[in-house]
Amino acid sequence: MRGVYVEIPHGQVTTFIGPSGCGKSTVLRALNHMNDLNEGCTLRGRVLFDGQDLYARDVDPVEVRRRIGMVFQKPNPFPKSIDENIAFGARINGYRGDLR
Ligand SMILES: Nc1ncnc2c1ncn2[C@@H]1O[C@H](COP(=O)(O)OP(=O)(O)OP(=O)(O)O)[C@@H](O)[C@H]1O
Ligand SMILES: [Mg+2]
Repeated sequence: MRGVYVEIPHGQVTTFIGPSGCGKSTVLRALNHMNDLNEGCTLRGRVLFDGQDLYARDVDPVEVRRRIGMVFQKPNPFPKSIDENIAFGARINGYRGDLR
């Protein structure tokens, strides 16, 4: 994808619409570094979030993903119990209390 410039306004719903396979999910994944481990993936240009370049050298992808979440098209539970899957987000963020 080349020559793309899009502003996503804060507090509004923005949608990407296009035929299957045109790259909507790939663009979304670029917002939180989900493409980084895809073999052959290269990215040029900038992705700015609140004015900060999400692809600057000192940016930690894990921290980016804490702030920019993603709901997947197809659910992919971890190979754990339903209980552990539901609690996963809270647990990795350090919550040790009772979640029930
Ligand atoms: N800019 C790009 N350069 C190279 N390959 C790309 C690019 N954008 C997308 N692709 C590849 O095209 C395929 C389809 O892309 P993607 O899954 O993002 O499409 P989609 O619009 O989300 O489709 P769907 O509507 O079916 O969910 C993927 O294999 C992806 O790796
Ligand atoms: Mg998609």
